[in-house]
Amino acid sequence: MNYEQIAELEEHRLVPTYKRLPFLAVNGDGCYIYDDKGRKYLDFLGGLGVNALGHAHPEMMAVLRDSAQNLLHVSNLIYHPFQAPLADQLAQLAGLDRVFFANTGTEAVEGALKLARAYGREQSPDRIGILAMENSFHGRTMGALAATWPEKYRKPFEPLPAGFKFIRQNDISHLKRNFSPDTAALLVEVIQGEGGVVELDEEFLKEGQELCREHGALFICDEIQCGMGRTGSYFAYQRFGLEPDVVLVAKPLAGGLPLAAIIARGEVAQAFHPGMHGTTFGGGPLQCRMALKFLEILQRPEFLEHVRKVGSYFKNQLLNLEKELPFIRLVRGHGLMLAAELSIPCKEIVQQAAEAGFLFNCTQEQVLRFLPPLVIQQQHVDQLIEALRTILISASSNKEKGVRA
Ligand SMILES: Cc1ncc(COP(=O)(O)O)c(C=O)c1O
Repeated sequence: MNYEQIAELEEHRLVPTYKRLPFLAVNGDGCYIYDDKGRKYLDFLGGLGVNALGHAHPEMMAVLRDSAQNLLHVSNLIYHPFQAPLADQLAQLAGLDRVFFANTGTEAVEGALKLARAYGREQSPDRIGILAMENSFHGRTMGALAATWPEKYRKPFEPLPAGFKFIRQNDISHLKRNFSPDTAALLVEVIQGEGGVVELDEEFLKEGQELCREHGALFICDEIQCGMGRTGSYFAYQRFGLEPDVVLVAKPLAGGLPLAAIIARGEVAQAFHPGMHGTTFGGGPLQCRMALKFLEILQRPEFLEHVRKVGSYFKNQLLNLEKELPFIRLVRGHGLMLAAELSIPCKEIVQQAAEAGFLFNCTQEQVLRFLPPLVIQQQHVDQLIEALRTILISASSNKEKGVRA
């Protein structure tokens, strides 16, 4: 079936939760996606942060091919060779002790909230409160939603679990006022992804960690979008020398397959006893093998250096564009998690860019967000910047014409 037929069938057969870009992806190679008409797209969307190694990475494909001759799933009632070594590596990278494997980011968040309450209750029966951040996004299940800030996501599904409060970004006195003996956890994204690539201040984060220590609450870093090399370090919190009790990862972990992990301090992890939490698919052999290969590549000496180098080149190019084009209000982010906030809505710009062969998306109505494969090269950045310049200049002249008309 071609694009038109697939789009028509989806229109009738899918639950209408997504708006898609108007093309049919049939192939991928490195930083490019190809459609059914043979057009190619330079991918700065990166599968929303999943495709850290781009598409069809030869080493990942080799693991996949080899795994296809072997066990795909055995259930968590049976040992297999890949879960423990993967847990070992994740724990070491995060400076933590134990790992629970889940499938999606949301599921990792949900599990971490349960862990925080299980651990909190061990200290005191009422210690169940969760402090989350304004402008946060943690996922779509009921618990993760309760910790997610935008009302448009939460409202239709209320009542959500109780005991959640939102803290104003970088407002230390608000944070202090909301801590109490009943606080079980503070949940943060060091860089808020869906919130528009907004960085929390080092001082605020350090104070949050300190308050958690004082109150016996857990400091949880949701690194689902900003972690695993995205910002040029294994985890975004490492840039500030933070030491969370629990770290959550997902998106790129298994090179495109669903896999998430809750990485926790040993004492905290032991609040879960056999039977208290689980999931059928979490940590299967195929995903874990893929993740082991991903971590091997991520830990090669030159890998993060490349992310930092291209990331800073990309940010500088965006900053130059900001000086040139009044429509760009602000450039934000770190490593290869970058954004340009515009003074106009960006939905149409995303569409026009796709037509011109460049993929990225729009968050918060006016923020262009870039989560390219971490293997992107300087020349790809140059191509994107050139295209963006043309599209933004034409959008601004169209707007001016609109104002004059
Ligand atoms: C910071 C953060 N947490 C949680 C999630 C939810 O992850 P998933 O969509 O895999 O359930 C996301 C998804 O974008 C995210 O960015």
